[in-house]
Amino acid sequence: MDAIKNITNRVSARELAKPYPTSEEMAIVYKGALRAPDHAWLRPSSFIEVKNDGLDKLSKIFHDYALSLSDISNEVIEKYKNAPYRAPMIIILVNTYKEHPKVPSIEQKLSTATAAQNIILALNAMKYSSIWRTGKLAFNENIQKALGLKNNQEILGYLYVGTEVGKTKKIPSLDIDDFVSYL
Ligand SMILES: Cc1cc2nc3c(=O)[nH]c(=O)nc-3n(C[C@H](O)[C@H](O)[C@H](O)COP(=O)(O)O)c2cc1C
Repeated sequence: MDAIKNITNRVSARELAKPYPTSEEMAIVYKGALRAPDHAWLRPSSFIEVKNDGLDKLSKIFHDYALSLSDISNEVIEKYKNAPYRAPMIIILVNTYKEHPKVPSIEQKLSTATAAQNIILALNAMKYSSIWRTGKLAFNENIQKALGLKNNQEILGYLYVGTEVGKTKKIPSLDIDDFVSYL
């Protein structure tokens, strides 16, 4: 696919189903992710790939978290429990903070965010779709612990991945003059 069209035509998909990318395709996607800009090459980004019975494990983690909250409705408990089944594959975006005199925490998170965009674009080029979601299940210490992450590791979001079902969203037409100024 034309590299520029891959960027300008990308849209997130709300409904995702199988097929998800093969392991061979994901190896290429992760290579792309690891080419994200990374100040001092601290390698802050890593990924947890969730599919098949991994989705059941993630669902249990979300469900247990929901049940641990005192002020939560049954509807939200179900929503958290079912969240992983919104796509056949999820890539959990993990940021690992390393202390560095020139690279503050925000720069390390920005690096992982650009790695996420590389993943999204690589998947799009392979005709798969995705959507980045956060909500209460990201930046969440309880869920990070349940996934075995360390204190310096944070979940920046979940990329829901698969093949888009239904209609592709229309791309909004934005006037670049509203967003770009010149000095
Ligand atoms: C950091 C981040 C967190 C997001 N969290 C959510 C979310 O929790 N739920 C959601 O519906 N969209 C979320 N989005 C937005 C979608 O990923 C998507 O960008 C949005 O629906 C617009 O669609 P588009 O990417 O096709 O323009 C998030 C985006 C970013 C960058």
